[in-house]
Order: sequence, then structure tokens, then C-alpha cells
Amino acid sequence: MEDQRILITGGAGFIGSHVVEHMVKSYPNYKIVNLDALTYAGNLENLKSVEGAENYHFVKGDICDAEILKELFEKEKFTGVIHLAAESHVDRSITNPLEFIQTNVLGTVNLMQAAMNAWKDDFEGKRFYHISTDEVYGSLGKEGLFKESTPYDPKSPYSASKAGSDHFVRAYANTYGFPVVISNCSNNYGPRQFPEKLIPLFINNIRHMQPLPVYGDGQYIRDWLHVHDHAKAIDKVYHEGKLGETYNIGGWNEWANIDLIHVLIKEVDAQLGRDSGASESLITFVKDRPGHDKRYAIDAQKIKDDLGWTPDYTFEEGLKETVAWYLENTEWLDHVTSGAYQDYYSKQYASE
Ligand code: NAD
Ligand code: DAU
Repeated sequence: MEDQRILITGGAGFIGSHVVEHMVKSYPNYKIVNLDALTYAGNLENLKSVEGAENYHFVKGDICDAEILKELFEKEKFTGVIHLAAESHVDRSITNPLEFIQTNVLGTVNLMQAAMNAWKDDFEGKRFYHISTDEVYGSLGKEGLFKESTPYDPKSPYSASKAGSDHFVRAYANTYGFPVVISNCSNNYGPRQFPEKLIPLFINNIRHMQPLPVYGDGQYIRDWLHVHDHAKAIDKVYHEGKLGETYNIGGWNEWANIDLIHVLIKEVDAQLGRDSGASESLITFVKDRPGHDKRYAIDAQKIKDDLGWTPDYTFEEGLKETVAWYLENTEWLDHVTSGAYQDYYSKQYASE
């Protein structure tokens, strides 16, 4: 691909900040524009490493704001979009579903419409890459893996809103010939994940000797992938993915929550210089997440076969490095968990 001008949405959040960092550093001849509304989950501290880069520009704005998008597309003449901006936390979707429909469904359609208008039906050399999740496929039993052909069966307001956005993206491709590619990834972990999600929340709570709230019996299963491996997969799909195709991305790395939590406790205790298992007593079984999906697991064979992508990180090294990052960046943790986070936390875990 010749030089690109790429709009990345949601670039000051967890995965988006890694994608921006990766693209800015890997492609100095590209222009990367990061559009982010900086909700509670977005934080410019995440992008300190590229803030002065010549090929990078940040714009604060909402993907639901058609005017901002129109101006931005006119000014920057984007050749591509990598769309990550979203409300991303399942628990928040249970208490506030409308926000998820607004950003994830309406925001995505608004963004595609802005690209359609700017590209004026001339899609040559253009692409719109929509980042989605494995949760759209619903929940697995003990056996089986999500494939690209697995029927959609979303079960939470979050996954329903992501499924809705995926449907609109495919509908735009089918109806208007809009040049799209989609990927659906499993659970990411790594530096800069907002500490409402399992791994950073538990690291922070272990650090403060606070209870570790395990939902239900802790036997729910997730497939974990390091965020750097996801960023590399996104680069591959953006550059080499076939238009109109979907790629599942996963780590071949399934863990029952409770088993992962024991390993995490061991690692955090070791890095904090505590006796092995000292924080085990913090484990607290709490009431389950309503409609909790039992198991997610991705079949990532297609992206491996077609694009030659496989994860670089082993979970052992990834988790060790992740724990070290949070324990070295306590200022970041303290910053993002101050203010509104306290209010969220006390409501979410009220009865514990
Ligand atoms: P995140 O919550 O950490 O970041 C989301 C970012 O989007 C934030 O910077 C936020 O400010 C921004 N944003 C929210 N609403 C916006 C709006 N209306 N306009 C502009 N910006 C807005 O999310 P994440 O975990 O980094 O996830 C990024 C994307 O990847 C999401 O689309 C999510 O569905 C998908 N995904 C996440 C995972 C995961 O494990 N975290 C796995 C698969 C797919
Ligand atoms: O599968 C991809 C999805 O992974 C992404 O699309 C979502 O954006 C991302 O948030 C993540 O969703 P999960 O719901 O799987 O992630 P979370 O970290 O919230 O929870 C992981 C598991 O841990 C899940 O089974 C619920 C459980 N859990 C979570 C929290 C926050 C607990 O037991 N206690 C908790 O306090």
C-alpha cells in the first residue's frame, strides 16, 4: 500500500492506544489521526510516547458528532479508518445499555456515513476496518470454538450493541459496496487497560489488599491475548485482509477465571515481595454477573493461514510483564481510579 492517511478512533483507550503507538512507530510515512471523546476510559497519558511525533495528530471528538467527522474527513482526506471507539465494559452495559447503543451502534453508522460522504462512492484504495469482539457469537459449552461462520447470538447489552454495529458494517458493504473488513477478538490483557476489567482490577486490589470479587463460582472461561499481539493482528488485517472478510483473532489460551486469578495472585505477590499466596485470602466470591457468558474460545486458524499471523507472547511472559507494568505505573493507576471511578466501583460492588 502506498502512503496512507488513517483515522483511528478510540486511540486513547486500551487497545486503541497500542494500535496508534504501533502504527505511528511502524509507518513514519503515514499520517495517523486519533479521534477520541476521552470518556472515563480514554486518557492521553496512554500516548505520551508518540505525542510529539510528526506523523501523529490527536483530535478530541465524539464519533456521534457528524459535523466534526465531516470537517475531519474534508481536511485530512483519509484513505482508511480503523474503528475502535466504543463503550467496552459488559458490567456498565448492564446498568446503562442506552449509552452502548448510542456509541457502538449509532456512532459506528455515523462514522461510516461520514466516510461514505467523503469518499463519494469512489472506494478505490479505501478501507473501513471495524474492530469487534468474540462476544457477538454468544456463549460456548465445554466444547467447540467460535469460527467466522458461527451464527451471532449476543447475550449482553454490550455484545448486542457490538453485534448491531457488525451487522450495519456488513449491510453497508452489501448495499453500497462500502469497502469493509472486520475482526472479532478475544479478551485482551496488557498495559493501560482500565482497571474495571478483571486483570488490572485484581492487580490494583491486590496492591491495596482489597477484596478480589470473583463472580459466581469463578468457572467462567475466557481466551486471553496480549494487546501487542492484537495490535500486530490489526496491522495485518488492515494491510492484507481481504475486503468483505471477517477474521477471528485469539490467543489459543483458555483459562477458567479462578485458575487465572490464582496465577495472577502468585505473580503479584512475588513482584511485591510478599510471601507466596499471601493475597489468596482476598478472594471473595460475589453474586454473579447477570446473563454471564460461560465460555469464549476463538478459532484463529483463518488469520493464521491467510495472513500468517500468530501471537508472539506466551501467557506466562505476557502476564509477568503486565503485572510489572501496573506495579511500576502506580501513578497511572491512581490517576485513573480517582474521581468518577470511585463512584462506579462503590455502585458496582455495593453489596460486597
Ligand atoms: P476502552 O474502553 O479501553 O477504550 C475505548 C475508547 O473509546 C476510549 O478511549 C474512549 O474515550 C473512546 N470512546 C468511547 N466513546 C466514544 C465516542 N462516542 N466517540 C469517540 N471516542 C469514544 O476499550 P478497549 O478495551 O480498548 O476496546 C477497544 C475496541 O476493541 C472496542 O471496540 C471493543 O469492543 C473492542 N474489543 C475489546 C476487547 C478487550 O478485551 N478489551 C476484545 C475484543 C474487542
Ligand atoms: O471477549 C472480548 C471481550 O472481553 C471484550 O469485547 C470486552 O470489551 C472486554 O471487556 C472483555 O469482556 P469480559 O466481560 O470477558 O471481560 P472482564 O474483564 O469484564 O471479565 C472477564 C471475566 O472475569 C468474566 O468472566 C467476568 C469475570 N469478572 C470480571 C470482573 C470485572 C469477575 O469475576 N469479577 C470482576 O470483578
